[in-house]
Amino acid sequence: MGTSCSEHAEWLVPSGVFIVTLRSGAFVNAYAAGWVVRVSEVPVMLQVAVWEQNYSFELARECDAFAAHILGQGQQDMARHFGRNSGRTMDKLAHYSTHAGASGLPILDDCLAFLECEVVFRRSFGDHLILVGHAIDSHVNRSGEPLIYRHADYE
Ligand SMILES: Cc1cc2nc3c(=O)[nH]c(=O)nc-3n(C[C@H](O)[C@H](O)[C@H](O)COP(=O)(O)O)c2cc1C
Repeated sequence: MGTSCSEHAEWLVPSGVFIVTLRSGAFVNAYAAGWVVRVSEVPVMLQVAVWEQNYSFELARECDAFAAHILGQGQQDMARHFGRNSGRTMDKLAHYSTHAGASGLPILDDCLAFLECEVVFRRSFGDHLILVGHAIDSHVNRSGEPLIYRHADYE
């Protein structure tokens, strides 16, 4: 038994690191996400899971679209900004360059790629709200490798 073993097997489930933007009415927010998965190839569909304690949860209950931005290697600071602050107390998007996506959502310019999705399914499981959306737009901004989630980067 090695001393470096994590007590939390779930922290070792591999994932990328994403910034998810969403909107409900006039309220827009963005949070760092690790729980983003593909659920269909044709059409392309993605699932995100939003923790019930997050401000984003309040928007996710009502939103009709979300955008998942895939971060590249070296973008841990950006993930920490969106993952350690809450939209309840600050506009996390204020100092980031964005443009309006097909659904009107803010799309972050500094990411490897993004997929903008229209919500087609919403359901709570445990303490997370699952949104499944089909991609209405997507773009690869640059070449490079995606940032892989490591729990130690965000402790
Ligand atoms: C790398 C990383 C991955 C995360 N993954 C998720 C996730 O998949 N779902 C989630 O609800 N929160 C996730 N979080 C936590 C939220 O990003 C964090 O609680 C954030 O402050 C919520 O912001 P909000 O209150 O503005 O919604 C993650 C945080 C980090 C740093």
